[in-house]
Amino acid sequence: MYPLLRSLLFSMDAETSHEVTMAALRLFGALPGLRQSLQRRSNRVGDGAGRRLMGMDFAHPVGLAAGLDKDARAVEGLARLGFSFVEVGTVTPRPQPGNPRPRLFRVPEASALINRMGFNNLGMLEMARRLEALRRRDRLGSTRVGINVGKNKDTPLDVAAEDYTACMRTLYPYADYLTLNLSSPNTPGLRTLQSGDALATLLGRIKDCQAQLTRQHGRAVPVLLKIAPDLALEDLEIIARQLVAHEMDGVIATNTTISRPGLQSHPLASQAGGLSGSPLLPLALDVVGQLRQLLGPDVPVIGVGGIMCADDGRAMLARGADLLQIYTGLIYRGPGLVRALSRL
Ligand SMILES: Cc1cc2nc3c(=O)[nH]c(=O)nc-3n(C[C@H](O)[C@H](O)[C@H](O)COP(=O)(O)O)c2cc1C
Repeated sequence: MYPLLRSLLFSMDAETSHEVTMAALRLFGALPGLRQSLQRRSNRVGDGAGRRLMGMDFAHPVGLAAGLDKDARAVEGLARLGFSFVEVGTVTPRPQPGNPRPRLFRVPEASALINRMGFNNLGMLEMARRLEALRRRDRLGSTRVGINVGKNKDTPLDVAAEDYTACMRTLYPYADYLTLNLSSPNTPGLRTLQSGDALATLLGRIKDCQAQLTRQHGRAVPVLLKIAPDLALEDLEIIARQLVAHEMDGVIATNTTISRPGLQSHPLASQAGGLSGSPLLPLALDVVGQLRQLLGPDVPVIGVGGIMCADDGRAMLARGADLLQIYTGLIYRGPGLVRALSRL
């Protein structure tokens, strides 16, 4: 069934097919019976595939990675596809249009995508409005919702912490966890926040904000860091030390890569942006493996990058990931991939 649907979707340009898919997922989520079907799944939390992490139960290890549902348009439809958690965003304080189109390219020969979307999103207030309505409808069962936050393109890097904390304050009540996106290649300078003093200062501000929000809301929402696959081992060591020093709740590895492994001679390789899908898997596996060694067994790690089949998911778990996320695999392999990974 999915190969047929995929041919149809791939006959459109990549961003149009994304919009059509999101509209369909919205409808899919609005159909009756969602609460009952997710309730059946929640009842299976203890059946072997379930995971407990960051003080929460996950029905199974596979979630949706950030960037597909940037504005929380179709969380219920995505839950119905079978994800145990859905990460929405990246959302920024103010709405912004992102980069001019075209900004999303398929590389089917490599089961890959290149994107330079640039955090196109409707802003944190619209996100809060939608998530509040979603919580009120209460149809998500045990599906967890993560919110991935970033900074506006025109916010100077030295005050980036203001953007992250503004999003945290506004979205905290609706989040099962929050992710700080420091690793998109499509916001100039963003990735420099992953290193040295900039990281230490930012994490200090985030932890203060988290402590204050925990007191205010009487509930601790975990905050994770999402990192790039293009870091040298020394950079990863610094990140790991900072994660531990600031008692961050976990890490998501990885975002898209600015490298073009195996694609150097492909006509699309020179398109600016981040590469995702199959060619990213070896890089993401290495980063997750190194992180696990650096962090020891207790810090939660969510593995993402190029997971296209159950064996890839198994490999990611074997390197030390506690949970998995997919994006490009869903585009190329369809919802069958969610089902396959949910049994790991
Ligand atoms: C079109 C597109 C948009 C993305 N947007 C975001 C984003 O807004 N925030 C983010 O943290 N990651 C974003 N990502 C990265 C994914 O969440 C994921 O980390 C990456 O694609 C690797 O996983 P995959 O190979 O399964 O796609 C985006 C990826 C794609 C393909």
